[in-house]
Amino acid sequence: MKKHIVVLTGAGVSAESGFATFRDTGGLWEQYDVNDVASIEGWYRNRQLVLDFYNQRRAQLKEAKPNAAHEAIAGLEKDYNVDVITQNVDNLHERAGSTRVLHLHGELTKVRPENGIYDRTASEAEVIDVGYRPVVLGDLAPNGSQLRPHIVFFGEAVPNIEKAINLVEKADVLLIVGSSLQVYPAAGLYRYAPNGCPIYVIDPKSVPLADPRVTFIQDVATKGMAQFMSLAPWN
Ligand code: OAD
Repeated sequence: MKKHIVVLTGAGVSAESGFATFRDTGGLWEQYDVNDVASIEGWYRNRQLVLDFYNQRRAQLKEAKPNAAHEAIAGLEKDYNVDVITQNVDNLHERAGSTRVLHLHGELTKVRPENGIYDRTASEAEVIDVGYRPVVLGDLAPNGSQLRPHIVFFGEAVPNIEKAINLVEKADVLLIVGSSLQVYPAAGLYRYAPNGCPIYVIDPKSVPLADPRVTFIQDVATKGMAQFMSLAPWN
């Protein structure tokens, strides 16, 4: 039976594709106030600002390409049973060829009604794929309410967290790439890895993760993935 590798990714995996991370120097949360553009209160205060922020990021995504780290993660599927859990709202894992990608914080290319069923039921029935197109005030969903980004704002629940926990609980190997592990509940997911499950963390900075199962690969995602592939113990 193929080993099950669960890969948890954060903004760092897309950094080499030209996407600024959030909390590094020069990161997005230095340029924007997270409370303005990524919180539910911010949305109701100034929808235009929030729509503009995600319109810009959607346009940027159209031009971006998956990098060698996304490709190496997709390539794992040749020999392993792989699930990717990503905090990223880009689609670079999918474009690199990963077939099972669970988005914890939503997806840039999708929108949904502001007053829809998703927030109560997590049903994706009203979620609309807009591709890379901008969304403006007055763009309405079939139910008549304003379309909003399909993004988990701060202050909102993370509907996919249960699915993510179920995957991590069944991992033979857990690989974490490019996340500062500061945002919960995603940051606590590694705790659900079974006893004895090796955990690899790829990040150029040291990530505060005090767990005896952890092996750190302190490098950028592309180089770190090459090192991960060359390590034997999880094979
Ligand atoms: P952060 O910006 O908090 O952390 C990015 C991590 O990537 C840091 O640990 C960096 O050291 C690392 N990094 C930088 N360059 C890298 C590279 N080339 N290769 C590998 N790693 C690199 O981003 P996240 O942990 O993903 O949520 O942030 C989690 C959530 O906070 C995001 O999903 C977003 C944000 O607010 C929402 O918007 C809902």
